[in-house]
Amino acid sequence: MDPAVQKLLRQFLNLTGFLVVFALVLLFYILYFTQPADWLKSWWAEQRRAEAAETLATAPTEAPEVVAYWSAPSIESETDEALKEQLRYGKELVAYTARYFGPNGSVDANRTNGLNCQNCHLEAGTKVFGNNYSRVAATYPKVRARSGQLEDVYKRVNDCFERSLNGTALDPASKEMQAMVAYIQYVGKDVPKGEKPAGSGFKDLAFLNRPIDPVHGKVVYEEKCVTCHQADGQGLKDDFGNYTYPPLWGPLSYNDGAGLYRMSNFAKYVKWNMPLGASHDDPQLTDEEAWDVAAWVNTQPRPKKNLAGDWPDISKKPFDHPFGPYADGFTEEQHKFGPFGPIKAKLESMANGQP
Ligand code: HEC
Ligand code: HEC
Repeated sequence: MDPAVQKLLRQFLNLTGFLVVFALVLLFYILYFTQPADWLKSWWAEQRRAEAAETLATAPTEAPEVVAYWSAPSIESETDEALKEQLRYGKELVAYTARYFGPNGSVDANRTNGLNCQNCHLEAGTKVFGNNYSRVAATYPKVRARSGQLEDVYKRVNDCFERSLNGTALDPASKEMQAMVAYIQYVGKDVPKGEKPAGSGFKDLAFLNRPIDPVHGKVVYEEKCVTCHQADGQGLKDDFGNYTYPPLWGPLSYNDGAGLYRMSNFAKYVKWNMPLGASHDDPQLTDEEAWDVAAWVNTQPRPKKNLAGDWPDISKKPFDHPFGPYADGFTEEQHKFGPFGPIKAKLESMANGQP
């Protein structure tokens, strides 16, 4: 190329280079130090919107799960005064059972062990996933595999009197039983027959794929439970002899026929409700902590019940029923400590008619 043309070209490139840099600096200056014009702002916003719309359209819809949990009707809005009185008494008995039936109970002393129904059926049986009474009115009477019988609500309440409260059954016709059952039924009165509303019973908890471990459970107990339930597991009483913090084992606790004596019930209760203040949307224990503390507490001494009449059909025994004989071929040890997954799978295949 002619050297003169080359020189001209170089000068031209230098000039354009300079102009480009100058223009960029100017643009930056305008954007940064002055208010950009409205048309620029709205153009930019439009670009962002279009981009966002595109990501939304292509992203899999992962809307957060919105569940309408059951909540209890208020007994105070009841207009029938006689009924309201009865419901109030029933609620009082559920909340402070021991004042009426415990060791110094005013209605019938020493019928029960000092626990209140509410210790396990939290907030008088109205807490979401706090073992509430929401499904009782809609699902009883029903045949229960534990007794092999058709059970009505009176029988079910007496089950808790005899097991969870380690006491004796109450006369179904008594004023107190009538009031408790009226209250429990009232709580679930708006639930359609046969249905279990969202938030009833206990929230599920995944199995561990190892046996649950009482040694680790003791460590969990000492870290997270001992301040209230005490080192000896015997809880703490107030000046009137009522438990502020109920006992978890020993002579005043639930017996070995109670629902909480099953590891899965205990682990779920604790995972979604303990330490006090925890809830299904604010749990405070890991799954391992919940299972292992169940193993620790449920291997401590507690009252025994004669369970000879339970589970007349042994093939219906749940995966974590800790007393043999069993139809599924697994040991008593594995039914107590797991791993539970294989037992549950076997029971399901047996229920479907497979060997
Ligand atoms: C130590 C804990 C504990 C105490 C105290 C207790 N219960 Fe229970 N109760 C349970 C557990 C756990 C279950 C669920 C058992 C299961 O699913 O196997 C249950 C189940 C029930 C049910 C059936 C609920 C359903 O949805 O099927 C009723 C009704 C009931 N209890 C009433 C009472 C009453 C009334 C009292 C007091 C007199 C009481 N319970 C005291 C632990 C307790
Ligand atoms: C801040 C005090 C506190 C702590 C900590 C606490 N609890 Fe509780 N716990 C309570 C109270 C109070 C109740 C009775 C609830 C009610 O009546 O409303 C209760 C009830 C229970 C019950 C059912 C009633 C019974 O006596 O069987 C169990 C089981 C239980 N707690 C286990 C645990 C475990 C396991 C831990 C540790 C992971 C724990 N709690 C930590 C205060 C506490």
